[in-house]
Amino acid sequence: MTTNPLKINFAGLKLKNPTVLASGILGYSAESLMSIVEGGAGAVITKSIGAEPRAGYANPTVVQTKCGLVNAMGLPNPGIDAYVQEIRRAKSALSVPLIVSVYGYSAEEYAATARKAAEAGADAVELNVSCPHVKETGSEIGQNPAVLSEVVRKVKAAVHKPVIVKLSPNVTDIVEVAQAAVKAGADALTAVNTVKAMAIDAETALPILSNKHGGLSGPAIKPIALRCVYDICERVKAPVMGCGGITNWRDAVEFYLAGASAVQIGTAMALNGSSIFTTINRGVETYLKKKKFRSVTEIVGLSHRS
Ligand SMILES: Cc1cc2nc3c(=O)[nH]c(=O)nc-3n(C[C@H](O)[C@H](O)[C@H](O)COP(=O)(O)O)c2cc1C
Repeated sequence: MTTNPLKINFAGLKLKNPTVLASGILGYSAESLMSIVEGGAGAVITKSIGAEPRAGYANPTVVQTKCGLVNAMGLPNPGIDAYVQEIRRAKSALSVPLIVSVYGYSAEEYAATARKAAEAGADAVELNVSCPHVKETGSEIGQNPAVLSEVVRKVKAAVHKPVIVKLSPNVTDIVEVAQAAVKAGADALTAVNTVKAMAIDAETALPILSNKHGGLSGPAIKPIALRCVYDICERVKAPVMGCGGITNWRDAVEFYLAGASAVQIGTAMALNGSSIFTTINRGVETYLKKKKFRSVTEIVGLSHRS
């Protein structure tokens, strides 16, 4: 019998491979999540959902640059009470773990939204404490270890599913924030969300995004994300999902070597389509075979050995 070299257990979630859809990219309806699974993803994460419906910002909300996307969507979402229907539909249709991303303006709001998501069938929740462009939530919470700890503690008390904390790279010391999250009970971490950025139009002489500021994703942020994962894995004992600029199998391998047990893919999926998951997984499998590793778990953190 042949064993699957890509299967992993991530904080209790059984994944047939370690590639995961990042939050906010096609991850809204049950149908779009199903198309991602058909493309080969080992798990999917929904768009971030809050306690109340939110319209998001006026267009333009996304700018394509030479090195990636700058977005300020403004967390558009229907609110958890409407979204529970979609979670139930997605849960019954999907063959892989469903992770629901949640955000809030207080610890109580994070906890109440996470509880409703878990009750509707989410296999885990990811806390978006790192969105760089909406005031009083996101990175305003994730940049403050004391406030973050309170959020994690309240969510852990409210749900009995794995809680993954998604960190911001827009901090002085990401390790300090990661340590606070894990000490407060986080089961796992995602590193990272987008890097604060903007774009200006030379013709109109104005910022392009309606919100002026946004978050940069894609190839430009890969070395930043890789450094964040490496530094966290040096000091923190918790499973980590690497995220930021992963575009091909070699990028994924670099994140595993830095210490990530799984990787999330966002911008590259948006630009290349959902088959990117299968393409990356095949490339990683070939690499493992060539280097005589039996499982992807054998290369997790290998670059820390010197
Ligand atoms: C259009 C767009 C929307 C996003 N929406 C969310 C979101 O709702 N919640 C969240 O946690 N991250 C969101 N992100 C961030 C991604 O999940 C990811 O952390 C980031 O894009 C870096 O990964 P990538 O370079 O593979 O895209 C969004 C990114 C993009 C490009």
